[in-house]
This record gives sequence, structure tokens and C-alpha cells, in this order.
Amino acid sequence: METAIVSITDDRQGKEAIREKIHAAGQIIRQGGLVAFPTETVYGLGADALNPLASGRIYEAKGRPSDNPLIIHISNMEDLEKIVRKVPEQARKLAEKFWPGPLTMIFEKSGIVPLETTGGLQTVAVRMPNHPAALLLIRSGGGYVAAPSANASGKPSPTRAEHVAEDMKGKIPMILDGGPVGIGIESTIVDFSEEIPMILRPGCITAKMIQEVIGEVRMDPGLAAENPEAPPKAPGMKYRHYAPKADLILVAGSKEKVQEKINELAEKAAKEGKSVGVIGTEETKDGYQYGTVKSIGTRKDAASIARHLYGILREFDQLDVEIIYSESFSESGIGQAIKNRMLKAAGHQMIEV
Ligand code: TXA
Ligand code: MG
Repeated sequence: METAIVSITDDRQGKEAIREKIHAAGQIIRQGGLVAFPTETVYGLGADALNPLASGRIYEAKGRPSDNPLIIHISNMEDLEKIVRKVPEQARKLAEKFWPGPLTMIFEKSGIVPLETTGGLQTVAVRMPNHPAALLLIRSGGGYVAAPSANASGKPSPTRAEHVAEDMKGKIPMILDGGPVGIGIESTIVDFSEEIPMILRPGCITAKMIQEVIGEVRMDPGLAAENPEAPPKAPGMKYRHYAPKADLILVAGSKEKVQEKINELAEKAAKEGKSVGVIGTEETKDGYQYGTVKSIGTRKDAASIARHLYGILREFDQLDVEIIYSESFSESGIGQAIKNRMLKAAGHQMIEV
């Protein structure tokens, strides 16, 4: 299959030309096809959520296990009522505060949502993304767009159209290229099918921000560790995921000790003939002597670290690096989501110094 990569950024083309392109993409979705598109978090791989055959094509293109449910993307509040049994008051409050935005909520599904979209579950995950092109695509595509991240299953989520092309070229008819995304890690997931709302995946909307709106919220205990007795409740969180081809090892501790340890480990691996990568920051990158050193962002701005994380892992993949040593970062604010994704990418390998 030929994959069209269609630019929807505002350089020389007019707004009307962009609208027409997105509208054409919407027609592909209405006809049961797949379109990758930008959102504010990561690129999504969209299909008509109410068409079981279309959802099936997503699993096929990604190589995704069929028990891993998809998020349905909507463009307005009225459309929510049709796909869920009821909207709890607290969920309504979160929607008012954070939608459109990087928040996904899980509800009991209504009859029109096929089990193929929900991985066989009676619940459905819903999000209204904060991205004008995504919202227009959802409307042109019929109002309900199922979209996981547009990576091949197991790979880091795509934060640029080029990343989508790496994984999806030849498998889908169209990629809408809206340039690099703003946030860079996936939405926060809050499950309202529990008595007390539960965070199944941390993201840039933090537990504290949610508590300020609805009071009590719990963290899925399965997120805490690689623990087979308490698997995470979101099926997708149990896979080794967000992962580069190389072995990733996190090093935590004070700045000086971390640098010393990473230099020591990188030197040893390099002397063993391995191809080594190091993930540092603007503040620390000049202190590393071995391997290919990349800065992930600045410690003064955690959002910059989130934005570059997946792109850096993909860059190391392209260099065929075999082992990556990375600094680890503060867990406050979006830091908790960054830590969650890095630990998963590392298969929970972390050295404390
Ligand atoms: O930011 C995002 O959420 C991006 C963009 C494209 O919107 N999408 C995304 O989708 O990250 P995906 O499929 O890569 O991750 C969805 C996660 C998976 O871990 C899945 O298991 C979980 O949500 N999930 C979906 N429906 C669920 C449900 N009914 N119950 C529990 N977990 C669910
Ligand atoms: Mg994903």
C-alpha cells in the first residue's frame, strides 16, 4: 500500500487547503480506513471506532495484541453520552476542567461501541484531544475515532510524522503531518468504572491537579513496580513498552555521583566493544566522556524532557546503539509520568548511587 504523507502545517498553503486535506482524511476513516494524525500528546492511528472491521485494521497495522483496548476520540461533550452508559458527576467536572486536553477517562460502554474496539471489555476509554487538526479530523471522520499511539506495538510512541512513517509506511493509506507534538507523552488515564476514580496511566495532568477538582483519586497499585501479582489495570501498561532496541539502564542519585557512575559504566561497555549511548541534559551533557551523548532537555523545564524522550530513544535505535545509560529525573509534576515511561522502557533496570 502506498502511504501518502500529507502536510497540514501552515507554511505556504492556506487554511482552506488544510481543511480540505483533513476532510479527505476524514473520508478515509468513514470508509473504514486508517489515518495517522497529530494530537497534543503523541501521534494517533485513527479508525472509525464504531466499525469493528476498521478497529481490527488498527490491531493488524500495529501488531497489537487484540486484548489491548483502544481510546475513542471525540470532538464535543454531546457525543460522549452516546458511547457510555452514564457520565459520573466527577467525570463531568474533570471534562469541564481538562477537555479538550491530555486526559482519557474510562466509563461503562453503551451498546453501540463494538467489543473489537474495547478489546472485549464492557468499559470504554474516551478522550477529547486539544489539537485543532485532530478535532476537525474526528468531526470529518464521523465523530468517533479510535486511536492508539501510531507506533508499531512495543516501540516508543511517535512524536513526529517521521516516526509514524518509520513504523507504518506501506501499512496505512495516509499520515497527516502536523509537525512535532507539544507534550510528547501519552494522556493521563482515569478509570471511573471503580468506586473511587483510579489513575491507570500517569501523564501531564497529575494526580494533584485531578484531586483539586474531584477530591479523592487513587493510583493503580499495579503501576508501582514490575509485579506479576498486581498487574496494571490498563492492559497496555503491562507490556514492555515504549522500548528502544537497546538495553536501557537508569542511574539515579546526586548529579556528581550519577555522572561518575555513567562514565564508569559507559567506559566499561565501550572497552568491551559495545556501542554505547548516554542520555544527559543541557546541564550535564559536557561531563560525559564515552559513547554517543544526547541531551534530552533541560532540568529547568521538565516538559522539555517529556517532549524529547521518545524521539531520543528512536534516534539511538537508528544508530544501532546496544546499551543506553540515562540519568533519571525529578518525580514532581509531569516527572511522575516521565519516570513511569522511562522505567518501562528500561524494563525497570535502575541503579541507585
Ligand atoms: O495520549 C494518548 O492517549 C494517545 C493519543 C493518540 O490520544 N493514545 C494512546 O493510546 O496512548 P494507546 O492505545 O497507545 O494507549 C491506551 C491505553 C492502553 O494502555 C490501554 O490498555 C488503555 O489505554 N485502555 C484503553 N481502554 C481501556 C479500558 N477500557 N480499560 C482499561 N484500560 C484501557
Ligand atoms: Mg501506545
